[in-house]
Amino acid sequence: MKARIGIIGTGWVGTSVAFSTLLAGHGRELWLHDTRAAVAEGEALDLTDGAAFYPPCEVRAVPLAQMRDADVVVLAAGRNGRPDESRLDLLRDNARIAAGMGVALKGFAGIVIVVTNPVDVLTRVVQAASGLPPERVMGTGTLLDTARLRERLAVRLGVATQSVHAQVVGEHGDSSVPLWSGARVGGTALRDWPGWQAEDEAALTQQVRRAAYEVIQRKGATNHAIGLVTAELIGCIVNDERRLLPVSRVQDNGVALSLPALVGAAGALEATAPAMDRAERAALVASSDLLDRAFGSLAG
Ligand code: 2OP
Repeated sequence: MKARIGIIGTGWVGTSVAFSTLLAGHGRELWLHDTRAAVAEGEALDLTDGAAFYPPCEVRAVPLAQMRDADVVVLAAGRNGRPDESRLDLLRDNARIAAGMGVALKGFAGIVIVVTNPVDVLTRVVQAASGLPPERVMGTGTLLDTARLRERLAVRLGVATQSVHAQVVGEHGDSSVPLWSGARVGGTALRDWPGWQAEDEAALTQQVRRAAYEVIQRKGATNHAIGLVTAELIGCIVNDERRLLPVSRVQDNGVALSLPALVGAAGALEATAPAMDRAERAALVASSDLLDRAFGSLAG
């Protein structure tokens, strides 16, 4: 299905989402909106100049109200973090923007993808402000952490990323939870893989949690990987691929965090929770409690 895709926020991340989405050919129309109208127009003109190099898609800057006619809307508006900030440190500044976008999307018939950080809490903010069903307001969540983990495991083990089956759940942030107990390399449990050591898990967990900081302290923001991840998610929705992906959504306990969901045209449908060992389950509870407290702090 050639969809109409809207991106709110044409900064580092929003433009990377646009670029990756165009190259993937997911949209018939790509609409850009930014409070800096000239910037959105400039990005649309610039991307259009490259139209010979991606599948046909009309790129335009549009007013915010037009986003209601999109099939998928990506929220990438807000400030990105400084090297010394956690994602939760962005909460106060970005929650106001997210709440406003949620109100603007009341009654929206499509799917919302939240990218702006702290993505889990803002996914909950947008879902609450819009009143949309939880399955139609998802955040990129730990889909990016999962990509980082799989890449690092592939390098460490010398196998293709496609043969590494591992995922991260919980907060897209410092309390993220790699599910080592269920990780597999091909058909072999990771913990049975020759040479795999328990200390490798702690080291890789830290590498995944620190990955964004390593990029931000060098170039000021991350954008390429999250752009590719978001474009992949858009494709999964517009093509109704019904893949099990760790994305953020409001869970039964009211907290938005990442667990595997069935992602397709209907959004992020709840799926059976993955097996976890005792330590992983405790870490997920801790991540959920942290995110719940962060959301509660907004009322203060
Ligand atoms: C990332 O992990 C900063 O959340 C962003 O790249």
